[in-house]
Amino acid sequence: MICREGVYNFAAGPAVLPPEVLERARASLSEWQGLGYSLLEAPFTGDEFKTLMDATRLQVKSALAVPDNYQVIFLQGGASAQFSLVPLNLLPPTATAGYVETGHWSARALAEGHRYGRSHLVASTRGSGFDHVPAVSEWALNNDLHYCHITPNETANGVQFPEDPDCGDIPLIADMTSEFLSRPVHIERYGMIYAGTQKNLGPTGLVIAIIRKDLLGQARPETPTVFNYQAQTERQNRINTPLTFGIYLVHLMLDWLEEQGGVNAIHPHNIAQSQVLYRIIDEDDFFYCPVIPEYRSIMNVCFGTRDENHQQRFLAEAEAMGLMNLAGHSHAGGLRASLYNAQSDAAVAALASFMADFRRRYG
Ligand SMILES: Cc1ncc(COP(=O)(O)O)c(C=O)c1O
Repeated sequence: MICREGVYNFAAGPAVLPPEVLERARASLSEWQGLGYSLLEAPFTGDEFKTLMDATRLQVKSALAVPDNYQVIFLQGGASAQFSLVPLNLLPPTATAGYVETGHWSARALAEGHRYGRSHLVASTRGSGFDHVPAVSEWALNNDLHYCHITPNETANGVQFPEDPDCGDIPLIADMTSEFLSRPVHIERYGMIYAGTQKNLGPTGLVIAIIRKDLLGQARPETPTVFNYQAQTERQNRINTPLTFGIYLVHLMLDWLEEQGGVNAIHPHNIAQSQVLYRIIDEDDFFYCPVIPEYRSIMNVCFGTRDENHQQRFLAEAEAMGLMNLAGHSHAGGLRASLYNAQSDAAVAALASFMADFRRRYG
């Protein structure tokens, strides 16, 4: 066991990882694949790493049943870099991109999108405090949109799309950073999915992108080659040094996910864990959740105490009990428990019991 017994981490990302994956990762630091040296020292051009990267790409395809007309690539710079790289790669300078604003991260994507061309706000829930996801029938879609960008799970606001939207012929581009591989996905409804891997898969700075092949080849000439989706596809991610250790961690996490039964098995498990907390929140008026029930995230449970004076005390007492990183996002405030795939039932039970006890003492 690497982590301290009795310490439970609810961080929003980088986030908790399964102890057995940490052990496997640790073993690779001493020696990897019988090479006589560490994975950290292994060349990315060697057969061992090439095989690993190709296998990891296939694992992503298999985990989400990605059809053959999509390409999986690894990118660097974290999910925020994609806010610029998506328009650079997919939006001609005179075209218009649509954005659905449902919280902090979609707002960030929109703000960055403005720098690269015309951005059209298709729908926004800012007016109601980002408490729900507008139905597709309410989106101001039109066929002039080159694509439409969404953030299906808003990490900071705890809002999650209840289903994959269908935008017909308009390619849907999704920042799935905080829900990637937590549920099955109708891939064919998307033109591109991208996800920073620091939530459900471990490494920071690494992005997995799944792109429909017919969307490749539109990059603007000024797009840096290392961030050009088509160039990285053609060169099988070997234009520059990939994040070798990060990709290995993703590989280990995908092995682990398969051992859990894949996304079809982990999804109901994730729902059940989040329901344990939402049930306590909804029991009476002591706690509240700002999100309308059917749009509540199963990954990031955002809540608060109605009496704001209780919030700091909640965090201090929780930490003293080993329940760590429960403060809400700096822009949203309040409290937040992140329940990514690797979150343990023991952690959720410990938090639930603490919340019930806290309410009993201060309610
Ligand atoms: C939905 C979403 N998008 C983008 C980001 C930004 O990711 P990065 O810090 O890797 O740029 C985050 C980070 O939490 C996120 O949750």
